[in-house]
Amino acid sequence: MTTARFITLEGMDGAGKSTHLSWLENYLKDRGLDVLVTREPGGTPLGERLRELLLNRDMHPETEALMMFAARREHLDKVIFPALAKGTWVVSDRFTDASFAYQGGGRGLDEGRLRTLENWVQGDFQPDLTLLFDVPVEVSRARLANNATLDRFEQEKNDFFLRVRDAYLRRAQAFPERIRVVDSSLPLDAIQAELAELLTLWLD
Ligand code: TYD
Repeated sequence: MTTARFITLEGMDGAGKSTHLSWLENYLKDRGLDVLVTREPGGTPLGERLRELLLNRDMHPETEALMMFAARREHLDKVIFPALAKGTWVVSDRFTDASFAYQGGGRGLDEGRLRTLENWVQGDFQPDLTLLFDVPVEVSRARLANNATLDRFEQEKNDFFLRVRDAYLRRAQAFPERIRVVDSSLPLDAIQAELAELLTLWLD
């Protein structure tokens, strides 16, 4: 049995993450792997309650960061660690890179503080692979325009998203082995072909 791995998906709202998430789940299952799909903030009953607040209530940016990491602590303890321990692969729709991108880049919180929280909540634990779905802000904004309702993050202005994207790309540069950038402005079949190639190489 291969060791179960932890894969995370990241990107701006409107980058097409959800579509790629179900594609990835099927791809891994077709290879006979036992896969659990989860999300952040959320993934546990308590985490989903926190998500509800995070996406809808106004709060201080530091409260927001603390709640993201509180939900993550619960998620690791109740879902991610137990699944990996029994050999189930875990795919999470967002994880700590989102805190560096949104709370760090978007809200402008000090990165050192976020690193302290990261270290507190997860020690050295990191995803084995992170797929960063990258699109220019205009593209992601245009896609969001089709949504009937927008949450608190999706309602942010363009410059918030420019900072989020920039922070994501800086993280990809800082951790090139772990974070793979996927150009999400390409047509869907081109993205899926790229993903299949990337994953085949990575898995072997
Ligand atoms: P998202 O994953 O995009 O879900 P949906 O596709 O249903 O809208 O929504 C989660 C939001 O939470 C997203 O706007 C990014 C934000 N977020 C943070 O700001 N920090 C974090 O650490 C995480 C995990 C998410």
